[in-house]
Amino acid sequence: MSLELIEVSKSYRLSGQSLFRAKREMAVMNVSCSLEEGRTLGIVGSSGSGKSTLGKLIVGLVKPDAGDIRYKGESLLRPQARQRLFSELQMVFQDSRSAVNSRMTIKDIVAEPIQHRERLTSSQLTKRVGDLLTAVELRPEEMNGYPHQISGGQLQRVCIARALAAKPRLIVWDEAISSLDAMTQWQMIQLLQRLQKEYAMSYVFITHNLQAVRHLADELIVMSRGAVVEHLQDAKHLDQLRHPESQRLVQAMLTSYRST
Ligand SMILES: Nc1ncnc2c1ncn2[C@@H]1O[C@H](COP(=O)(O)OP(=O)(O)OP(=O)(O)O)[C@@H](O)[C@H]1O
Ligand SMILES: [Mg+2]
Repeated sequence: MSLELIEVSKSYRLSGQSLFRAKREMAVMNVSCSLEEGRTLGIVGSSGSGKSTLGKLIVGLVKPDAGDIRYKGESLLRPQARQRLFSELQMVFQDSRSAVNSRMTIKDIVAEPIQHRERLTSSQLTKRVGDLLTAVELRPEEMNGYPHQISGGQLQRVCIARALAAKPRLIVWDEAISSLDAMTQWQMIQLLQRLQKEYAMSYVFITHNLQAVRHLADELIVMSRGAVVEHLQDAKHLDQLRHPESQRLVQAMLTSYRST
């Protein structure tokens, strides 16, 4: 088993509450799920259902209050394992503009994770960044530009190249393609599928887009108010979703299709 979450919970202090008698809100509640190597777990659910928090728990951006997160058989809650395995777990977010430093060149943005782990000569680094940009279907020459000089879709590709630079084994995509137009989303789905095969990675794919999930995910979990309310073994069969929350999501998708 590549990734295993065992009864994981995470709460946040409600804003405006005092430190001492604060009420807490459960963002993720007793979630158990697992993901085999090379496979994709889709996560859907309405806004605020805990999807991003779950993604951040997986890559170690937030710590659980309870439960265990195991990766390659080791608990990521143990600092030693975390330190060793952390770079294998990457997360790509929806808002690429705020995820990058606008004063850095594309080259420096993509090169940063490489420089953390390897000592390369300047020409080796340029070659590596060029290869990564090619892998995400950008031209290597783009590396000399700045984020504001490229489109949202291109910048999202830069963020993917940056995630790949860390040589990840698992990537959490948090609405990573949601803000792009339908055509670009479709191209990105194909790109993500190709990269998954080429780099032999596992994916956790968080989205509101059930169509994208059908294409990309093997399994699917539906979240509601922090909990997993349904687990579909085969994400291709959305018609097998039974929970009222799942059916609401399907209805919302159908309605938005009819109105477009
Ligand atoms: N850093 C934080 N501090 C306080 N509360 C938070 C924090 N992050 C998330 N929450 C709360 O936890 C709950 C789950 O949030 P989360 O962002 O995981 O939902 P989500 O399913 O990703 O929603 P969306 O689809 O809108 O992105 C929400 O009620 C949210 O307000
Ligand atoms: Mg979210």
